[in-house]
Amino acid sequence: MKYQSRVIFGSGIIFSLIIGWFFFPMVLFKSESQPLQYNHKIHTGEQAGISCEDCHVIDTDGRFHGIPTVAKCAECHSSQLGTSENEKILVEQYVLPNLEIPWRIYSLQPDNAYFSHVTHVRLGQLKCEECHGTHGSSEQLRIFQVNRISGYSRDIWNASFSGMQNKSREGMKMDDCIQCHEQRGRKDGCIACHK
Ligand code: HEC
Ligand code: HEC
Ligand code: HEC
Ligand code: HEC
Ligand code: HEC
Repeated sequence: MKYQSRVIFGSGIIFSLIIGWFFFPMVLFKSESQPLQYNHKIHTGEQAGISCEDCHVIDTDGRFHGIPTVAKCAECHSSQLGTSENEKILVEQYVLPNLEIPWRIYSLQPDNAYFSHVTHVRLGQLKCEECHGTHGSSEQLRIFQVNRISGYSRDIWNASFSGMQNKSREGMKMDDCIQCHEQRGRKDGCIACHK
């Protein structure tokens, strides 16, 4: 090849790599919105002042109940407290007909990965923020990105497959689990987390 055509050929490859680098994730992930906007800050801040574990209950037998049911919301929202459109949707579409809200879970793990809140929160004395970042004080729910191949959220699957960690995005990948365990001197075999 002549020098000139080699340059053109070479920059063509580099060009496609750059395009692929940025557009592959856009093709791989599908964006979905949550069924309802939810504002943690209103509820955990001074205005309502509800504690995390009041809604995200850990039973005396250690069972973690996850996201509260609509019955919890109905304790305060049996009718509208304010004037927001969002609350109107909550009351009319979920509370009154007593229908559960189909929230998408950012950190949901595959079935073969074992995780227990009670060990981490009680025995390990970890704060929610150490794993979930600022979700508990956020005002808006971010777009939910689903991996088209695995069906899991971007937070746990291929969150940084390009090798570029996005520190502002909360993530709960295997690497995050292992990194914290190693920092605390835990050396877990695969079967500790994969049953
Ligand atoms: C009034 C009830 C209520 C209180 C109090 C509350 N939450 Fe939530 N939480 C919810 C609801 C509803 C959702 C589902 C919508 C969403 O993803 O935010 C949720 C979702 C979450 C999730 C998302 C899990 C995931 O991976 O999708 C985290 C993390 C969370 N809450 C943490 C907290 C923390 C930390 C606090 C305390 C600072 C807190 N919550 C207080 C109702 C509550
Ligand atoms: C202990 C009482 C309490 C509980 C329980 C509670 N809320 Fe609220 N919520 C409030 C208060 C107070 C406000 C502020 C009302 C206002 O002035 O608009 C509010 C406001 C809202 C709004 C309107 C603000 C906005 O984002 O537009 C929504 C939607 C909402 N809550 C959803 C929920 C959901 C979903 C649940 C159940 C998981 C829930 N709330 C449980 C007290 C509560
Ligand atoms: C050591 C990391 C870690 C800590 C600390 C932690 N979580 Fe989680 N959380 C996770 C993981 C991992 C999942 C996904 C679990 C699964 O898929 O079984 C999750 C899931 C959740 C969910 C969604 C559960 C569902 O299936 O409905 C909520 C809500 C939540 N966490 C709230 C909290 C709150 C509130 C605290 C603090 C009291 C907390 N978490 C502390 C790692 C953590
Ligand atoms: C921020 C630190 C941190 C993160 C992140 C973390 N862990 Fe842990 N993990 C701990 C600590 C500390 C313990 C020891 C708790 C104790 O027994 O005192 C532990 C214990 C465990 C155990 C053994 C005890 C049990 O529950 O059976 C398993 C399994 C485990 N973690 C799985 C996971 C998985 C899966 C993830 C990621 C989704 C994860 N951990 C993320 C800190 C962490
Ligand atoms: C501290 C907990 C933990 C340990 C130890 C662990 N894993 Fe995982 N692993 C997870 C979690 C959580 C996921 C799901 C999230 C993800 O895909 O990153 C996962 C996902 C996977 C996956 C599927 C997705 C992927 O990223 O390719 C494979 C394969 C896997 N683990 C293999 C292993 C093997 C082999 C070992 C032992 C060398 C091991 N894991 C040790 C927590 C752990």
